[in-house]
Amino acid sequence: MKQRTHRCGELTRTQVGQSVVLNGWVQRRRDHGAVMFIDLRDRTGLTQVVFNAERNAAVHKAAHTLRSECVVSIAGQVMARPDESRNPNLPTGEVEVFVDEVEILNEAKTPPFVIEDEAEVTEAIRLKYRYLDLRRPKMQRLLGIRHAVAQAARGYLNAEGFLEVETPVLTKSTPEGARDYLVPSRVNAGQFFALPQSPQLFKQVLMVSGVDRYYQIARCFRDEDLRNDRQPEFTQIDLELSFVDRQQVMALMERMIVTIFKEAGGVQLPMPFPRMTYAEAMGRYGSDKPDLRFDMPLYDVTAFGAASDFKVFKDAAAKGGIVKALIVKGGAALSRTRIDALGETAKSFGAKGLAWLKITAEGQLESVIAKFLDAKAFAAALPDAKAGDLVLFGADKPAIVHDVLGRIRLLLGEELNLIDKTAWKPLWVTEFPLLDYSPEEKRYVFMHNPFAAPMDEDLALLESDPLKVRAKAYDMVLNGSEIGGGSIRNHRSEIQLKILDLLGINKDQAQAKFGFLLEALDYGAPPHGGIAFGLDRLIMLLGGADSIRDVIAFPKTQRAQCPLTDAPSAVSAEQLKELRIKLDLIE
Ligand code: AMO
Ligand code: AMP
Repeated sequence: MKQRTHRCGELTRTQVGQSVVLNGWVQRRRDHGAVMFIDLRDRTGLTQVVFNAERNAAVHKAAHTLRSECVVSIAGQVMARPDESRNPNLPTGEVEVFVDEVEILNEAKTPPFVIEDEAEVTEAIRLKYRYLDLRRPKMQRLLGIRHAVAQAARGYLNAEGFLEVETPVLTKSTPEGARDYLVPSRVNAGQFFALPQSPQLFKQVLMVSGVDRYYQIARCFRDEDLRNDRQPEFTQIDLELSFVDRQQVMALMERMIVTIFKEAGGVQLPMPFPRMTYAEAMGRYGSDKPDLRFDMPLYDVTAFGAASDFKVFKDAAAKGGIVKALIVKGGAALSRTRIDALGETAKSFGAKGLAWLKITAEGQLESVIAKFLDAKAFAAALPDAKAGDLVLFGADKPAIVHDVLGRIRLLLGEELNLIDKTAWKPLWVTEFPLLDYSPEEKRYVFMHNPFAAPMDEDLALLESDPLKVRAKAYDMVLNGSEIGGGSIRNHRSEIQLKILDLLGINKDQAQAKFGFLLEALDYGAPPHGGIAFGLDRLIMLLGGADSIRDVIAFPKTQRAQCPLTDAPSAVSAEQLKELRIKLDLIE
C-alpha cells in the first residue's frame, strides 16, 4: 500500500500539478463512458478522483470493479476542475485527482444503507451497523465535538490545578437514586459489585486524602428508564474541590463551561449566568430546569381564584392549593378542538383539567367558566392578559400545577415557535430543597444526593420542619436541559448521620452502605463540594443532536441493548458455574 500524502478533505488549488496519494472509501461512482468519477472519502471529507481511459486505460478498466465502500489507495495528479464543474459546496470542489495507479485494499459488501447524512434508515439498522453509521459525516462531526469538549475541559481544569484521578468501576452501590448494575464476584461467590452511578463517594474520599482539586471524565452506570437524553451508561465531567463555598464552585464552573463552548464549538455563552432559586424557577416556569429561550411565565392568581365563583378554583385555594395561569399571546385564535386537546394533554400530565378563557377583540371574557368570573377582578389579577390572548389555568396542589403548566408551557413554546433556536440561555438553579416526601414510600427521600449540606440558616429546621430545609445545591441549566448538578457536602459526620437518619437510613444501614465514607469524614475531612456535568448532554447541545445516542459512539437502545454486539446476552453454563450461580428467573 502506498502511503498517503494527503487526506481526502485537504486538497485545494494550492496542490494543483502535484502528485498525490489518497487512501479512503469509495463514496459513489459515476460512469461517463471513457471517464469514470469516484468520490473518495475519509474522515476529513471527499475528493473527486478521475479515471480517464485516454490518460490510463488500465486504471480506467480497473475502476469498473470499484464498488461503494470498498477501500482503495490511488496515486495521481491534482488538476484544477474546469469552471463549469467546480463544486463550491465542497472544500475540495476546485480540484480533482487524475488517477495513475489504483490499489484495492479491501472489498466491501453492499452496505445496508448509503453512507450519507440524509440516508433513510431506521435507528435499529444504524445501531446494528454502527461502524457504517459512524462513517457518515454528521457522526464524524459529533465524534469530533466530543473529543474537543473533553480536551477543552481537561485543558481548563489542568490549568486550574485539578488532578485527574481514576476511581473504580467495580465498586459498591452509590446512592444517586437509580437502580444499580450488578456484577457477580467469582472469587467471593454470592457477592456482587455494583457499577458506580457516579464517582460521588470516591471523590469525597479523595478530598479527605488531600487531593484538593479532583476531576475525572468518568463513566457512570444507572439502570433507569431511558429517554432521549438518558443512557444507562453515560459520561460525566466530574469534579470535587476542597475549602470552597458555593460561590467559588459556581464561578469556576461557569468559566469552564464558557471555555468549553468557546473552544469546542465556537459558541460565546452570555456571562454571568443568571441565578434563580429552585422556588423561583418552579414558581415562575413550573420547572427546575427552565428553558429561558422564551418567557411565557406562570402567574399566581390564587387570590383571584379563591374570590371567584368557580368551584374548581375556590376548592383548590380552600384546600391550601394554588391557582396559576399561563397567558398564550394571541392564543384566542386557537380552535376549540386544539384547546380541548391541550386539556387532554394536561390530564395525561396529572391535572384534573385545564380551564381556559379567551379575551375577545372587544376585551370580553369568552369561556364556559366566564359566568363564574368577574371581568374587572380578572383584569386586575392578570393585567398582562390582553385582547386576543388565551389564558390557561391550573388549580391543584402546587406540585401538580407547576409540573402540568410547566410542561404545557414547553409544549406551546415548541408548537407556537416561541423558542429562539439560535439563543443560548444558561442559568444556575440554586437552593434546592434538601428533602422531598415520597407518598408511595411514606418517607423522606433526598432531592440531589444524600451528601448535600443544608444551608446554614436552615440547620434548625432539620428538627422542626425538614421539608423546608434548603440544600447548598446548584444545577446548571442550558436551554431547558439540566447539564450539571452538585453541592457543598457535609464534611462533618454528625450532620451527615442526622440527614441519613431523616432519610430512614439508620446508623447500621449507613455503615453497611457507605461506612467507609462516614469513617473517612472523621479523619479530618476538609470542607468540600463539587459538581458533575453530563458530557453527553453538553455535546448534544453543542452539536444540535436530538438524541443522546447520536453523541455516543456505541450507545444502548431504549431497551438498554446494544444491537452491534447483542449485549446483554446469555452466558455459558460454565461461566455461571464458576460464579456458583444457578438461574431461576422469577416470572
Ligand atoms: P447527577 O445525578 O445530577 O449528579 O448527574 C450529573 C449530571 O449527569 C447527567 N446525567 C445523565 N446523562 C445522561 N444519561 C443519564 N442517565 C444521566 N443521569 C445524569 C446530567 C446531570 O446533570 N454525583 C453527583 C454530582 C455531584 O453532586 O457532584 C451526580 O451524579 O447532565
Ligand atoms: P368542570 O367544572 O369539571 O366542567 O370543568 C370546567 C373547566 O375547568 C374545564 O375546562 C376543566 O378542564 C377545567 N378544570 C377542571 N378541574 C380543573 C383543575 N383542577 N385545574 C384547572 N382546570 C380545571
